[in-house]
Amino acid sequence: MKKHQVMVEMKKITKSFSGNLANDKVDFIARCGEVHALLGENGAGKSTLMSALTGLYRPDSGEIRLRDKTIELKSPRDAIEHGIGMVHQHFKLVKPFTVTENIALGASTTPFLLNMDKVEAEIVSLAEKYGMKVDPRAKVWQLSVGEQQRVEIIKMLYRGAEILILDEPTAVLTPQEVDDLFETLGQMANAGCAVIFITHKFKEVMAGSDTITVLRNGQNVATVKTSETDQNKLAHLMVGREMTAKPLEKKGQPGEVVLKLDEVEAFNDKGMLALQSISTEIRAGEILGIAGVAGNGQRELAEIVTGLRETSAGKIIILGEDYTDRSPKEYISAGVAHVPEDRLGTGLVPNLNAVDNILLKNYRNHRGHFLDLKESRKLAEKMVEDFQIKLSSIDDPIKLMSGGNLQKMLLAREFHSEPKLIVTVYPVRGLDIGATRAVRQLLLEQREQGAAILLISEDLDELMELADKIAVMYEGEIMDILPPTYDNLETIGLLMAGSKCEEVGV
Ligand SMILES: Nc1ncnc2c1ncn2[C@@H]1O[C@H](COP(=O)(O)OP(=O)(O)OP(=O)(O)O)[C@@H](O)[C@H]1O
Ligand SMILES: [Mg+2]
Repeated sequence: MKKHQVMVEMKKITKSFSGNLANDKVDFIARCGEVHALLGENGAGKSTLMSALTGLYRPDSGEIRLRDKTIELKSPRDAIEHGIGMVHQHFKLVKPFTVTENIALGASTTPFLLNMDKVEAEIVSLAEKYGMKVDPRAKVWQLSVGEQQRVEIIKMLYRGAEILILDEPTAVLTPQEVDDLFETLGQMANAGCAVIFITHKFKEVMAGSDTITVLRNGQNVATVKTSETDQNKLAHLMVGREMTAKPLEKKGQPGEVVLKLDEVEAFNDKGMLALQSISTEIRAGEILGIAGVAGNGQRELAEIVTGLRETSAGKIIILGEDYTDRSPKEYISAGVAHVPEDRLGTGLVPNLNAVDNILLKNYRNHRGHFLDLKESRKLAEKMVEDFQIKLSSIDDPIKLMSGGNLQKMLLAREFHSEPKLIVTVYPVRGLDIGATRAVRQLLLEQREQGAAILLISEDLDELMELADKIAVMYEGEIMDILPPTYDNLETIGLLMAGSKCEEVGV
């Protein structure tokens, strides 16, 4: 097909969930040779629209035309047979299997009849063609999130996708990986594919797309050429009002030491040393920010201070008491809250509703009584209101909530118990500007109330805004701990890349 020719056209797509209008007569066109960004706030209806295009949901009304023919998509399999493939926010790979096995799995031919060498060769050639690095023989559990995403993309290409849809692909990537991904998406478009990616980051829309469609409250409010717009115009279209950004305020003085790490070491899942002689402390009312490129021990650090991973050396002291290698339950009892990287894996249970997800953690209240169902319903309702969580019903499985609202749910549950120590890993991943501000504000409120906070982030601006001190991690070590001043920005960047202070002359 020729560049700019219409590949797929969605006409007046409407979809509601128990009275909640997620898509309201949306028109959307994706063209060959084009990277199309779908922009909108949390809950705007982006995932729902793309789910209609991938056969996950049947729209209540509307029409989908592919290359000028009306099509009916009853399932994702239908969609892939029409050359439409989606890479979801939550990956669907089988962890114990290799990359090749995962890609072969569920492809139209029966996997055990497949010639695995041939599949592998094809994977290698697809990866090369679009500039992606993957090891076809690695087991999926060994891969970083970025690598798993590449496997999902190759899986779709292997199945012949010409329309590739990615739901918030950059949310899980490092800045470098984001550049690589956009490079790959550009090459796919050049090869004639239509690429659609969902996001709420303006910077990335501007850098990675040719065309932008903005959804607001389930409606298409604009489709524009990237070259003919700017971030301000987009922000205005997206939120439909001026954004007043009052700077966040940090109040209060640090108190007693809540968390103390003394020469702590730990191994990662691959059996390699992931943390090396980590010594630091966080006081009540203090935020220790951890800067670093993902994969340098941050996940393991969060896991050891929440009891989810054993240490191989050193001591973890919480409020003066030795907690080294105690169980996650004991950490919870000590007042440790955890907002993990992987919301639907370790954070929340997707098939349970909001009430049960809250019960799960607060099965005992502070006084040691069991919460009854009525009480936890009330609590769930209050959290939904306090945190302005958008959902159709607190009785629906939480997997039906939009990504941003899921994160708010998790924070509501974790902050409710007045934690002494909060461990939070990439807390604003996948959140729009409004929700991002709300979460940062909530963290500062917790700090003001005397919580000690370990904030793991990839966003240096976020660390500058929130942290009282910034520790830079590289290959499992804390390279240095610095105050969050913009003068230190360059040093922090260099430390993140592994240069020692002596070498950079500071
Ligand atoms: N299966 C479902 N059942 C009930 N409500 C749903 C379902 N899927 C989505 N919704 C609701 O429809 C609205 C649109 O959700 P959608 O997931 O499409 O938003 P989104 O733009 O992708 O948001 P995010 O950026 O947070 O991922 C939200 O109010 C959401 O709660
Ligand atoms: Mg979504």
